Amino acid sequence: MIPNYRRFPVCLVRGEGSWIWDAEGNRYLDFFPGWGCNLLGHCPPRVVDAVREQAGELIHVPNTWYMEAQGALAAALSERSFGGQCFFCNSGAEANEAAIKLARAYGRERGRFKIVTMEGGFHGRTFAALTATAQPQYHAGFEPMLPGFSYVPYDDLGAVAAALDDQTAAVLVEPVQGEGGINIPAPGYLAGLRRLCDQRGVLLIFDEVQTGMGRTGEWFAYQHEGAAPDILTCAKALAGGFAAGVMIARPPVAAALKPGMHASTFGGNPIACRAALATIETIEAESLLERGVQIGARFREAFEALRAERPGLVREIRILGVMIGLDLTFDATEVVAECIRRQLLVNVTHGHVVRLLPALTITDDQIDLGCAILAGVLERATS
Ligand SMILES: Cc1ncc(COP(=O)(O)O)c(C=O)c1O
Repeated sequence: MIPNYRRFPVCLVRGEGSWIWDAEGNRYLDFFPGWGCNLLGHCPPRVVDAVREQAGELIHVPNTWYMEAQGALAAALSERSFGGQCFFCNSGAEANEAAIKLARAYGRERGRFKIVTMEGGFHGRTFAALTATAQPQYHAGFEPMLPGFSYVPYDDLGAVAAALDDQTAAVLVEPVQGEGGINIPAPGYLAGLRRLCDQRGVLLIFDEVQTGMGRTGEWFAYQHEGAAPDILTCAKALAGGFAAGVMIARPPVAAALKPGMHASTFGGNPIACRAALATIETIEAESLLERGVQIGARFREAFEALRAERPGLVREIRILGVMIGLDLTFDATEVVAECIRRQLLVNVTHGHVVRLLPALTITDDQIDLGCAILAGVLERATS
């Protein structure tokens, strides 16, 4: 194996909901299932059934043919967002590559090609997505980056206004920064970006790779403010843990991509589309958007109690639905390994933010158990 991943010495073999087992038979409680991909927990039954059934009927056909599930999924996503058209791919980075290419194709006749993105953002590891990711540590070793990108501070409308010029094609932004530390912008930020982009003839792209599909308590995070983008990207949870990505674009913008200008061999394959349809069905049948808000509230309660008990430990609690950031006052890198020892899986980003992306199917007992383990680890780390 190429050593590009830091790995823990654990081999995971089986999962069910928020539980996951390793090869030795140890059971872990997963507060970070699949880096946000397993929004319904491990092996959600409807998704498992859909994948099994589809695998027995047709595994793959290329996009030179029509596929029933692909059309149904495009309609389902369009209805739950802003009436856009879909391009399917397999990951978040690919969805953002598509969005950047579309923004340039659309801007071409108008002499617009520049892309403005936000410091601390994360858009993926392929070259345009990486260039869009305004974090120097991810660029290191790969320079020069692509031309035509500029970066401004997050949650700062004035900085965006100053960065736009008549060559700007698009503003690309996460409605909530995920990898950056669960950074939730001030109310009005997304709507302000929408107004600004309209005034200046610039496309607005929301990267909802992490926030989309109900993660924040709405199908898409922009819906909290009703500020629809021109282009939206989504991946991670789209197909309940199966690899899938999508770019959704307003039809007049989407029209700039003509046959042959962009493609993905596996994008929108029948298994991924059936898995995504089963994901949508599960979220609606089990009222999981509403449940996500309750889960977020329960985590907040637990973390507020911790903050009250141990002053000086918690800098900030940032929660929107099941997107949860616990910003600590100390370097928490060791917290992940200690939680694994206590059979809890969590993530730490930027050294000091415990990031949790629990499943919408997690139970109250599981939340309480995991929060108690985490509190114990944090108390030990600071005593
Ligand atoms: C907001 C956002 N965009 C894009 C990506 C890249 O997605 P992928 O790893 O599927 O390429 C990620 C991954 O963490 C992400 O959080």
